Amino acid sequence: MSKLNVAILASGRGSNFQAILNEIKAGRCNAEVKVLITDNPEAKAIDIAKQNNISFEIVERKNFEKRSEMDDKIKEILDSYKTELVVLAGYMRIIKGKLLLESYKNRIINIHPSLLPLFPGENAQKQAFNSGAKVSGLTIHFVDETLDGGPIIYQEKVDISDCKSAEETADKILKHEHKAYAKVIDLFSRGSYIIEDHKAVFIKKT
Ligand code: GAR
Repeated sequence: MSKLNVAILASGRGSNFQAILNEIKAGRCNAEVKVLITDNPEAKAIDIAKQNNISFEIVERKNFEKRSEMDDKIKEILDSYKTELVVLAGYMRIIKGKLLLESYKNRIINIHPSLLPLFPGENAQKQAFNSGAKVSGLTIHFVDETLDGGPIIYQEKVDISDCKSAEETADKILKHEHKAYAKVIDLFSRGSYIIEDHKAVFIKKT
């Protein structure tokens, strides 16, 4: 089975990016990361790309007059790498460009550290911890024009009842993110998803 061409979009430390590369190396994720795209020239994710000989492109907001022009540039880069799946891994911007969203419809995914629709937006783990929730988790979903509102592909519950702080909550959920994301990416190489009632349903390639 041919490997899935993946592009990673990340803004920060890139631990999910690293975890995906680890799972690919371990033979548990049938994908190849072709390019990292970041909006942050200081992102640690760039070091990970360099260490692994992966191309990277910096697309900064300040270089574009309009937000949609930034997304048009990202679309151009994705096309040039023949990207099959766009993986947001700690990419802290909402994608607003119509061209990008339409061209890669149902091929852009995001991981979010809560059980959506609970705790969307920033600091989801802190929101969960502060709410006193005993259980939180992670969600992998398709990206559309809404904030963390696209069709859900996969969710995993994490018991956070023993967590003493928001940081501990984030660390505990992150460990689960690191395994879950690569598993979902692997599935994309083995089939495709259709959307039914705002839910993603997997259809295996025959
Ligand atoms: C992860 O916990 C990811 O779920 C979260 O940012 C962190 C990135 O960590 N994403 C969001 O909150 C998106 N709304 P990483 O850079 O180490 O992968």
